[in-house]
Amino acid sequence: MVLFLSGLEDRVVETVRNSLTIGITLKQIAQAIDENLEAVDGCVQALRDRGKVVRMGRGLWVLKEYEQIDNDPEFISPATYNEKFADLYGVQLSEYSGSSITFSANHLMEKKVQRWTPYVQGFSADFVDNMLQRYDVKPGQRVLDPFAGSGTVLVSAKMKGIDAIGVDLMPLMSFMARVKTEWDLDVKAVRREFEGLDWNQEPKLSSPAFLKRWKSHFNAGVLRNLLLLKQSILAVKQPKITDLFRLAFASILVDCSNLNRSPCLGYDRTKAVSDDTPLILFRAKVQDMIEDLVYVREKAQGHVEVITGDSRLVRYEPESIDIAITSPPYVNGLDYVINYKIEMAWLDMVHSYDELGQLKDEMVACDNVSRSIIRGFSERLDSYEDVWVEEIAERIAHRITSKEGYRRKDMHNVVRKYFDDVYRVFRNVYEGLKTGARFIIVIGDSLIAGVYIPADLILAQMAKAIGFKIENVEIARSRRSGQRRSFKLRESVVILSK
Ligand SMILES: C[S@@+](CC[C@H](N)C(=O)[O-])C[C@H]1O[C@@H](n2cnc3c(N)ncnc32)[C@H](O)[C@@H]1O
Repeated sequence: MVLFLSGLEDRVVETVRNSLTIGITLKQIAQAIDENLEAVDGCVQALRDRGKVVRMGRGLWVLKEYEQIDNDPEFISPATYNEKFADLYGVQLSEYSGSSITFSANHLMEKKVQRWTPYVQGFSADFVDNMLQRYDVKPGQRVLDPFAGSGTVLVSAKMKGIDAIGVDLMPLMSFMARVKTEWDLDVKAVRREFEGLDWNQEPKLSSPAFLKRWKSHFNAGVLRNLLLLKQSILAVKQPKITDLFRLAFASILVDCSNLNRSPCLGYDRTKAVSDDTPLILFRAKVQDMIEDLVYVREKAQGHVEVITGDSRLVRYEPESIDIAITSPPYVNGLDYVINYKIEMAWLDMVHSYDELGQLKDEMVACDNVSRSIIRGFSERLDSYEDVWVEEIAERIAHRITSKEGYRRKDMHNVVRKYFDDVYRVFRNVYEGLKTGARFIIVIGDSLIAGVYIPADLILAQMAKAIGFKIENVEIARSRRSGQRRSFKLRESVVILSK
């Protein structure tokens, strides 16, 4: 028995060792050595008690000696890249010292119009205000955000009388951005329509049943009230007011559900939602909207154009834009389509998983993009080439092929495609900007399969290849890696000029 156990231990240790700093789950270990999960679990716990293995983020185990990722002889650290970057471009990384970059829900409560949507991604309105001030952007000038999301840049610009153009591929995002920048509503009519909403009928609509597990998203009483609410909103005859209410409806959906978003959508077993939550939250949201519409009426108002489209393909009039401010998706970051599927389904923007899949495949690549898209991409001869991206992709490929059970064997090509997608967007931005204009990018770095990806420096290098001048890379904050709790990632502001 003792002999058998130590044999198992050896095999477990060997398997964990092979996963290097990437780490391996209990299930993957059990599969790799063809043992039952319980025995592997017991063995790993015993190894942990003796300090041989440690658990990293996401249920991954590594050998104690690989707890610090820098102990991996193959690891190339952020400091090494920073030095290389300084040598190549004469730019030392500095610290960002403006108002907080992080979108904060509390602070948002005070932010007129920005507070209409609770989506935490990219940057704060304060950050955008700070940049518009730093670069002295004036009323009548034009700002671009090619990944406009829920419209933070567009709303900030409009409030200062600055014109803006925003692009986002997700219909939900561009819808939110559009409604948040349409302020010529008759507030009295909004109030009247709101008070006239008939919440006492029987719901005739049905929920978006194509969503898997739709029955568990909401409690039965909540679901009924949501259907009722949606039905009464759709009965409003003035399209702009209907859209305002649809936006309010979308922005309370997750709060009404048994899920939360932190930032990915997941079930929250501790959440207790009462049946009247939809009506309470909707009422409060519309009241905020009315208050803000009254407030912004007095404000200078820039002209805003919102495009629902793929920024890789959207071209701008050459030399027409005074500044671009954006936050692209991060490498291996959020799957926006899956994360916002509930809102898109309830607003009738998508009707099937096929439609969701098509949308996902057009987005800047994330690790849920279809394998066929990645295969097609790998055969292309005109993709963006960068020495750092190539080195990183090869190291990722090497690590995932030498390890059992990595979720995607083509992850290296997902990373290549990510940079190619962003390259295509940056080229269009370059063309649209006026000579001398700034391009401000907020971006986070990543860790994939234990390989560090300095996305901020790679994007700066890419911009340089397009023709931009690299002015600065400012580190705004550090954040914890989901893959490895002990490793600190960063979020940076890359400042370029044409
Ligand atoms: C980090 S978020 C930007 C958030 C934004 N700053 C805000 O205020 O909400 C990145 C956005 O890029 C969008 N996106 C991804 N791929 C795109 C593409 N090919 N074309 C246009 N937008 C895209 C996503 O839908 C997402 O809204």
